[in-house]
Amino acid sequence: MTRTFETVGVVGLGTMGAGIAEVFARAEMSVIGVEADEAALERGRRHLETSTARAVARDRMSAEQQSALLGRITFTTSREDLADVDLVVEAIPELMEYKRGLFSDLDRICKPSAVLATNTSSLSVTAIAATTSRPAQVVGMHFFNPAPVMRLVEVIGTVVTEDGLAGEIADLARRLGKTPVTVGDRAGFVVNRLLLGYLNHACGLLESGLASRDDIDAAMKLGLGLPMGPFTLLDLIGLDTSYEVCEVLFRESRDPRHAPAPVLREFVTAGLLGRKTGRGFYSYAEGAPTVPEPGPRAAVSMVGIVGSGPEVAGLVADLDAAGFKATVAERSDLTPVADADVVVALSDRPVVELAVRLSHPERLVGLHLVGDRVAEVASTVLTSEEVAGAVQDLVTVLRRTPVRCGDRAEMVVDALLYPYLNDAVRMVDSGYATAGDIDDAMRLGCGYPAGPFEMLDSIGLERVRDGLRALYAEYREPSFAPAPLLDQLVTAGVPGFRAYAR
Ligand code: 3HC
Repeated sequence: MTRTFETVGVVGLGTMGAGIAEVFARAEMSVIGVEADEAALERGRRHLETSTARAVARDRMSAEQQSALLGRITFTTSREDLADVDLVVEAIPELMEYKRGLFSDLDRICKPSAVLATNTSSLSVTAIAATTSRPAQVVGMHFFNPAPVMRLVEVIGTVVTEDGLAGEIADLARRLGKTPVTVGDRAGFVVNRLLLGYLNHACGLLESGLASRDDIDAAMKLGLGLPMGPFTLLDLIGLDTSYEVCEVLFRESRDPRHAPAPVLREFVTAGLLGRKTGRGFYSYAEGAPTVPEPGPRAAVSMVGIVGSGPEVAGLVADLDAAGFKATVAERSDLTPVADADVVVALSDRPVVELAVRLSHPERLVGLHLVGDRVAEVASTVLTSEEVAGAVQDLVTVLRRTPVRCGDRAEMVVDALLYPYLNDAVRMVDSGYATAGDIDDAMRLGCGYPAGPFEMLDSIGLERVRDGLRALYAEYREPSFAPAPLLDQLVTAGVPGFRAYAR
């Protein structure tokens, strides 16, 4: 018997719940939105009004459609009002005891045929299902923030879910205009397991002093074309949610990559939870951010470049067009750049060993061109601030965004990207999800321009494998060691991951 879903309850009208209620109402379904008290209910109602008003302001919806949409939503503080709904989606805080309490209430209140779904980010759907007398009718239905915009819904079936129900929920997601990816019940499912590892890693790099918040955000947004840098995204998700998801991931995986970075705990304890509280990594108070005064700069007329190949030729041409003289040296003989005002060594690996071979080691920085918009500028422990500042300005003249960082393997972008790609390879190897589903999930759930396997194939398996080896040698972090499957594909000469995984 195929169910029909016409009336839906949404419990919890915070950022996610209000967005989910909007998604169902947009699909012309009747929605009952439930909150704990009048104040929270009012906040939820305002959230829905603001979100739909934005669509009206952008001519995506008429004022009549907006009032019809809001008219399809009933607001209540009583769970008992959910007695006749076909489906409930729970979006309350990520605390197991809250979820357990709610699901046993829903089990008592809702009609026997009703399906109970949780929007949990990471908690065990199986454990939630087990608190009810109808575990076969409990599934995960995981939306992404902002729910009206992001096109992915992860559908999670457990070992006890009734046959066919995950498929029916996937059909419902399609009716909502979303793309479902159906997986089993593992902490973080597909997206959060991959995403939070990367976001937590970004916090670790910030804490280590490798680069600043703004530099890391610019590097990932402009260098990879992601919609947001990691700290902007953490503030959007909420630092409390991010912390909790990392905790749950770590509990299951025991992978240090998931152990929440101390800076997250500090922000959460201080009540700085991101956009929703007006401050997290960024402050969302009124007023333009203050731009720091630039420091002293070395005068530059001659730029020394260490490296070879087309990247060097391109850089020389760009410098020439901007009115700078350039001289080029190979790594084996640095004599031609000995008297340059600044020396840039094109590299994605540490360059301090080149600096110590110069009579002016303070004049050398590493330079890594990322895509066509970003250049990472790596200062060694010997680089002077005047030289690093001068190269930063040079990069701006060359119409790239400079990202200042320390002299570490893979600098910022690749240091964050490659372990994420490695995690995705491990996920396929474990049999949890297919490469195609993972690519869809990351593209549609996070707005990435490409999924991890599309990125892996366009960068090249060997380059990523070698980058991971360099990261492992530098940081000795076990999860940076190339996944055995990646290593084997490179050894076997397989041209791309998707060619193998098809
Ligand atoms: N509610 C409703 N609509 C919204 C919205 C919101 N909060 N924020 C943006 N929009 C709409 C806008 O109205 C606009 O719609 P239009 O194209 O029809 O006019 C569209 O989204 C684009 O918005 P903007 O032009 O204002 O802003 P951007 O182009 O900067 O896009 C963004 C904003 C869609 C949030 C984009 O930056 C993005 O995709 N970011 C990545 C978000 C992400 O990764 N989400 C997943 C987080 S993980 C998660 O949620 C799982 C959880 O379990 C932790």
